[in-house]
Amino acid sequence: MLEFLKRLLKARGVLFLATRFGTTKMRQAAMDEVYKSGTWDDLDQRVSEELVEMVEAHAGGGDILDLGCGPGLLSAALAPEAFASYLGVDVSAEAIAIANKRASEKVSFQLGDIERLRPERSYDLIVFTESIMYVNPTRRLKVLKGYADKLKPRGRLMVTVVQYQRFEAIFDLIASNFEVVEDRMFRHRERRVIVFS
Ligand SMILES: C[S@@+](CC[C@H](N)C(=O)[O-])C[C@H]1O[C@@H](n2cnc3c(N)ncnc32)[C@H](O)[C@@H]1O
Repeated sequence: MLEFLKRLLKARGVLFLATRFGTTKMRQAAMDEVYKSGTWDDLDQRVSEELVEMVEAHAGGGDILDLGCGPGLLSAALAPEAFASYLGVDVSAEAIAIANKRASEKVSFQLGDIERLRPERSYDLIVFTESIMYVNPTRRLKVLKGYADKLKPRGRLMVTVVQYQRFEAIFDLIASNFEVVEDRMFRHRERRVIVFS
């Protein structure tokens, strides 16, 4: 059954549907296939200086939750004194296996589906770098509101999207339902970053 699913996932449309609308198992199989295919071998180029500076500024030395963390590149780019703790969550076992090599006293990783995760504690900064688009569009607002409830009193959410024009609806959704703290463009790859609570 799993082999059949893996073969099916090679078809582009099926992959799209599985990653947005599938069960957690389907999402995991789909994302594992994407990692194995090498599609995201360039993820390190997306952890720009601008992103790191912004995450550090908004984390304010506190606790960070990185949703759809991939291989944990952001955790490795942050100055250790810029945060108190960092937890990265990703649905891909392939990504988490790589990320775990970056684990430390303050940095940990967990396999999980960000649409279904129920954090047990609150955070100063919750980030979605290039991962919000995988949340089922009909559940996006509910998912974001659920994470907003897990912010500490002055905590913030951050969403980044490269070539953001494809996902302008996400920014409209955020702007009309949350208090926007910062909304800006990075120089590289038409990447838009929005910070809100
Ligand atoms: C484009 S990659 C970005 C990875 C990382 N945030 C970065 O910027 O380097 C998207 C990531 O979102 C993860 N992802 C997609 N849907 C997810 C879900 N439902 N739950 C957890 N992670 C998910 C994928 O496995 C992948 O690692």
